[in-house]
Amino acid sequence: MTAQEHESQFPPRPTALAREILREWIRPGDTVIDATAGNGHDTLFLAERCGPDGRVLAFDVQKQAIEASHQRVAVAGCAEWVEFHHCSHVRIGDFTKPASISAVMFNLGYLPGNDHHRTTTAEETLMALDASAIALKSRGVLTIICYPGHEAGAVEADAVEAYLTAKSASGWRTAKYAILGTLRPAPFLLVASNG
Ligand SMILES: C[S@@+](CC[C@H](N)C(=O)[O-])C[C@H]1O[C@@H](n2cnc3c(N)ncnc32)[C@H](O)[C@@H]1O
Repeated sequence: MTAQEHESQFPPRPTALAREILREWIRPGDTVIDATAGNGHDTLFLAERCGPDGRVLAFDVQKQAIEASHQRVAVAGCAEWVEFHHCSHVRIGDFTKPASISAVMFNLGYLPGNDHHRTTTAEETLMALDASAIALKSRGVLTIICYPGHEAGAVEADAVEAYLTAKSASGWRTAKYAILGTLRPAPFLLVASNG
């Protein structure tokens, strides 16, 4: 990356920061989860990190998102080790064994340019976080990007932040990364590890 490109991305966006953090933690052969596949950018990142000896489980409630993500990983030659689930991430526990997953990524909100009503909800997200906490191995990592700039997103962001704050009281290591000085509440990244 040139110095100019680097500068134009400062401060790094939550999506870039989440990947930067996970890059260190995911090893070839790991099994990981994309809880909100969307257009597949994170699914592809995860597939490249865990490689053909690993596995990515990607969830989305919208058929269009599953198709777009499948297309993205297929073009990159990674489709064989990505398992798509066209259902809510509340069902993560139906497809995983306890303590088997190295990382779970959530990018909350709605599919850009698509049906804004099919957004993630506080209720389902908290259920999916409970399922993820069971599925994560020791020293597993959760990343969650929250969008408090719209009403439902703000409710969800508060709920998720409170959930992780409670986790830190029971030994999880947690952090929040947010850009300051924006007109509307800016998207922020939460990270958590159980070991
Ligand atoms: C911001 S987009 C994700 C972007 C994606 N990670 C990417 O890299 O392109 C949020 C996605 O969450 C999906 N979604 C909403 N509710 C969901 C749920 N309960 N379970 C799984 N996915 C859900 C939406 O359909 C949408 O595609």
